[in-house]
Amino acid sequence: MTAIDDQNTTDPAEETVTAPADHVDPAPNPHATQEQVEAALKDTKLAQVLYHDWEAETYDEKWSISFDERCIDYARGRLDKILPDAPLPYGRAMELGCGTGFFLLNLMQSGVAEKGSVTDLSPGMVKVALRNAENLGLDVDGRVADAESIPYEDDTFDLVVGHAVLHHIPDVEQSLREVLRVLKPGGRFVFAGEPSTAGDFYARWLSRATWWATTNITKLGPLKDWRRPQAELDESSRAAALEAVVDIHTFSPEDLERLATSAGAVQVESAAEELAAAMLGWPVRTFEAAVPAEKLGWGWAGFAFGGWKRMTWLDENVLRKIVPPKFFYNVLITGVKPEK
Ligand SMILES: C[S@@+](CC[C@H](N)C(=O)[O-])C[C@H]1O[C@@H](n2cnc3c(N)ncnc32)[C@H](O)[C@@H]1O
Repeated sequence: MTAIDDQNTTDPAEETVTAPADHVDPAPNPHATQEQVEAALKDTKLAQVLYHDWEAETYDEKWSISFDERCIDYARGRLDKILPDAPLPYGRAMELGCGTGFFLLNLMQSGVAEKGSVTDLSPGMVKVALRNAENLGLDVDGRVADAESIPYEDDTFDLVVGHAVLHHIPDVEQSLREVLRVLKPGGRFVFAGEPSTAGDFYARWLSRATWWATTNITKLGPLKDWRRPQAELDESSRAAALEAVVDIHTFSPEDLERLATSAGAVQVESAAEELAAAMLGWPVRTFEAAVPAEKLGWGWAGFAFGGWKRMTWLDENVLRKIVPPKFFYNVLITGVKPEK
């Protein structure tokens, strides 16, 4: 634990909620028209909102997101990887690009923070994240927020986290400046799950091959039950067209360190993880998206997670010693807001 980290555990009961009382977030738009999709192909932020509003209600199912031990361990493992001696619990934490709340809600369940704020550019995602938080009985509020201009006052949070979000943001350095602005002096940020450049390349090819193989093999007689209805597959393909617009960046660990330092952070550190695990994980997730959910269920999720754990063991104990970090799929970054 560092002296700076030690100062971050303030009593959340003393804190003020900084969103204006009369503020109303925009409503979700889960049914984008063809015209809106076409406009979004040239407007990355519109694409983010349409794509993620579209996905919000089915996102947990699509990505096997849960709020049980499996995902609590995963989320906590990402924090422990980059910050093994974190001074827990933090008082008030905020998540940028929260999606359905996978990272912050599971971190909170593992005791990382006492009070949380979920934020996302997509109103549909904020709605689902707040619903998930309520079902879990967590002390969480939420707002629609663009990471490049975060609608909270200076010096509000002890911890800011994000998972798989920085690669969607056009100006990453500006968003990190905003993160530092809303953090209290000495407050810390942790971002995980950012794609490396090499990792993104093999993940895309493995995913395309899995999608092609699954959607073609399930045209065959005995496997037809495993084919999702054509309308759903077409909708997934339209979503995939937007996905190409919403994924803007890939990073090396050094890229993220440079961006964080240039935004003004201190104690900046990066890490990279998942090579064999990513090579298993991407085909598994694509297969899950290509077949009807009821064919798989939680037994499959447990099996897939077990495989991911075994591959992670291989990554950490064997491949890490012989393969350079830039070939691992996930990049993590942490840093601290300097004391005034
Ligand atoms: C790949 S999803 C990850 C969601 C969640 N963190 C998770 O790991 O499941 C990326 C999320 O970032 C959000 N996002 C994209 N651009 C954003 C921006 N400029 N500001 C805030 N959130 C953004 C998207 O709406 C989406 O919910």
